[in-house]
Amino acid sequence: MSHFIHVFIVVAALIWQLDIVQSNCDVCQANDAACVNQTSYKLCFGKNIPNNDQIFTCPDGLVCTDKAQICFQRSEVPASCGDNDSCGLCNESKTFACTSRNTFSFCFGATKPTTVNGTCPAGRFCDASDVNICVSTATANSIICHLDKVPESTG
Ligand SMILES: *[C@@H]1O[C@H](CO)[C@@H](O)[C@H](O)[C@H]1NC(C)=O
Ligand SMILES: *[C@@H]1O[C@H](CO)[C@@H](O)[C@H](O)[C@H]1NC(C)=O
Ligand SMILES: *[C@@H]1O[C@H](CO)[C@@H](O)[C@H](O)[C@H]1NC(C)=O
Ligand SMILES: *[C@@H]1O[C@H](CO)[C@@H](O)[C@H](O)[C@H]1NC(C)=O
Repeated sequence: MSHFIHVFIVVAALIWQLDIVQSNCDVCQANDAACVNQTSYKLCFGKNIPNNDQIFTCPDGLVCTDKAQICFQRSEVPASCGDNDSCGLCNESKTFACTSRNTFSFCFGATKPTTVNGTCPAGRFCDASDVNICVSTATANSIICHLDKVPESTG
């Protein structure tokens, strides 16, 4: 019985980890690439650790993503890491701004965020394009602030 519980915890931890991976820098993704910042990446060659010998850079206008093609139009797929352009900017409807990966501030109709702040629940991150504010999966329209104000994992 306790064996089952143990396996369950390990699996749950892995799923949680996969969630987080979406916006971490220097993490091997399903496409075998690890983004080092918004536009550059290393390859993993099937391992879980990026190979540091070479750093590749996406062509102009493309960002490093978790898609098979690695480099994609920023307007179509959010960068996996390093995109901080939207941080602290109120979203189009002036409802809220993401101030880090998992924190946000309300805008109350103004163009600058107020000091009324919130933190996303565990496993969720702030998406300025989403009415739910904190989401668990990115979409093509996601507006994510890649700043780590709060440590995501203590190991
Ligand atoms: C990303 O990292 C590469 C390699 O370290 C560097 O050459 C490049 O200037 C960086 N780009 C940005 C936008 O920080
Ligand atoms: C955003 O990222 C750029 C490039 O890595 C960096 O120079 C800049 O300081 C960052 N801005 C913030 C607010 O952290
Ligand atoms: C901004 O936030 C509001 C409310 O949370 C949402 O309805 C809207 O779609 C968001 N996105 C943009 C781009 O304005
Ligand atoms: C809310 O966040 C902003 C920016 O990160 C900060 O300057 C402000 O002090 C925070 N307000 C509160 C009440 O914590």
